[in-house]
Amino acid sequence: MLAVAILAAGRGTRMKSSLPKVLHTLGGRSLVERVLLSLSDLECSRRFIIFGYGGDQVKSLLGNLPDLEFVEQTEQLGTGHAVQQVIPYLDGFQGDLLVLNGDLPLLRPQTLKQLLQSHQDNGNAATVLTAHLPDPTGYGRVFCNDQNILTAIVEDRDCTAVQKQNRRINAGVYCFHWPDLVQVLPTLSSDNDQQEYYLTEVAKSLNPMMAVDVKDYQEIQGINNRKQLADAYAILQDRIKDDWMAAGVTLVDPDSITIDETVELAPDVIIEPQTHLRGDTTIRTGCRIGPGSLIENSQIGANVTVLYSVVADSVVQDGTRIGPYAHLRGEAQVGENCRIGNFVEIKKSTLGDRTNVAHLSYLGDATLGTQVNVGAGTITANYDGFKKHPTRIGDRTKTGSNSVFVAPVAVGADVTVGAGSVVTKDTPDDCLVLARAEQTVLPGWRPRHQSQPESQPAEAIQQSTPDDS
Ligand code: UD1
Ligand code: CA
Repeated sequence: MLAVAILAAGRGTRMKSSLPKVLHTLGGRSLVERVLLSLSDLECSRRFIIFGYGGDQVKSLLGNLPDLEFVEQTEQLGTGHAVQQVIPYLDGFQGDLLVLNGDLPLLRPQTLKQLLQSHQDNGNAATVLTAHLPDPTGYGRVFCNDQNILTAIVEDRDCTAVQKQNRRINAGVYCFHWPDLVQVLPTLSSDNDQQEYYLTEVAKSLNPMMAVDVKDYQEIQGINNRKQLADAYAILQDRIKDDWMAAGVTLVDPDSITIDETVELAPDVIIEPQTHLRGDTTIRTGCRIGPGSLIENSQIGANVTVLYSVVADSVVQDGTRIGPYAHLRGEAQVGENCRIGNFVEIKKSTLGDRTNVAHLSYLGDATLGTQVNVGAGTITANYDGFKKHPTRIGDRTKTGSNSVFVAPVAVGADVTVGAGSVVTKDTPDDCLVLARAEQTVLPGWRPRHQSQPESQPAEAIQQSTPDDS
C-alpha cells in the first residue's frame, strides 16, 4: 500500500509573490499539478495535499480532482512539521508514504517508480532521491557511508565549508516505511539555522535509510525563485520539442518556438520560427504554422497554413490559408479551403467552405455560407453600444469593398453587394444590393475661389448606378 503526501503549504518567500509558490505555472500547469502528474505510474491508495499559505487558492485549483485529501498545516514550521500533519490520517497504516516537495515540477513518472521499487526491494525504512549537481548551492547535502547507507542530510545554510563541497543533494522526494516514520516524526527538533522542523532530520533515526541517484539531474530542479522557474521552463520545452521532433514534426529553429505539453501535433507538421502553440490545441498533418504565429486553444485541420497570425479559441478546417496578420478569436469557425488574409479579424463567426476574406475586414457574430467572397474592407457592425447582433451572409454572395453590415441583418445567397454599401435591411437571394449615395457629377465645376467657365453655371447630373448598362 502506498500513500502520497505533497508538501504545498509553504509561501515560497523567494518567489516574492502573493501567489503561493506551488500555484505558479510552468508551461500552462501549476507546479503542484505537475507533481500530481508525476505520480501517474504509481498506484496510490491515498493522496494528501498539505496546504497552508494561500490554501483557498490551492483548494480551488485542485478541488475538483478526484481522491485528493487536503490536510491543513496552519503554521508553516518546516517540512517535517508538514509531514506530521498526516499522522492522524494514517493511523494504523502499514504501507509506504511517498513524500514530495510541491515545487518539483520536472520529475518523470518512471523516476518515482524506480525509487519506490528500490525502496521496497531493499526493505528500507527510508529511501531518498538524490542527484550530483554541478552547482549544489541551496540544496540539502546528502552524506552516505561506504555501503551507501545515508547518515545525514544537512541543509545548505547549516553546512560547514567542507560539507558544502559535497555535490550530492537531497531532491526532496522520499519513500518512508510509515510504521518507522511515525515513530520518529514526533521527535523532530527545530535546532537549526531556520528554527524549522526539518523532515531531513529523520535521517538521524531511521535505519536503514538509503540514497538513490536520479539519472537525469534536471528532473529534480526545485523551484524557489523566478529564475529557477524560467530555467525549468527551458528544460520542459526541450523535452516537449525533442519528443515532437522524434514523432515526425519539423521545428525550424526550435529555440524560438514554444509548445505547451497540452498541444497535439501530427507528423509532417512544420512549425516555423517564433511560433507559440498553447493550451488545448491540435494541429493535423501537413500544416505549416508560422513564422511568427500564436495558436491557443484551437483545432487546426490538415494542410492549413498560418503565417504571422493569431488564432485563439477557434476551429480551422483542412486546406485553409490564414495570414499574414490575421486574428481569429472567440470561437471563430472557418471551413475548408478558405482564405483569411491580411489584416482580417474574425470573432465568434462561422465561415462555410471556400469562403474568402482576403483583406482588411472585421467579421463578428457573423455566419457566412460557402464560397462567399468578402471584399476588402468589409465590416460587420455587430455592436450597438449595448449588445452584439448577428449578421448572416448566404452562399456565393460577394460583398463589395468597404461594405458595412449593420447587424442584425441577413443577406441572401448569390447576392452581390455594391462597394461602399451600408446594408441595414435583410435582402432576398439572387440580387444586387446597393445601399449608398448615388454619384453626382457637376460638369465644369470649380472651387469657389476659382472662376467658373464662361458658359452656364454647372448643372448637376445624377448618375444612376449601375451606370454601365
Ligand atoms: C528542501 C529540503 C532540502 C532539499 C530541497 C530540494 C528540507 C528541510 N530541506 O529545502 O534538503 O535539498 O528541499 O528542493 O526539507 N513546505 C510546507 N510546509 C512548510 C515548509 C515547506 O508544506 O512548513 C513545502 C513547500 O511548500 C515546498 C516544500 O515543502 O513545496 C519544500 O519547501 P522549501 O522551503 O522549498 O524547502 P527547501 O529549502 O527548498
Ligand atoms: Ca525548495
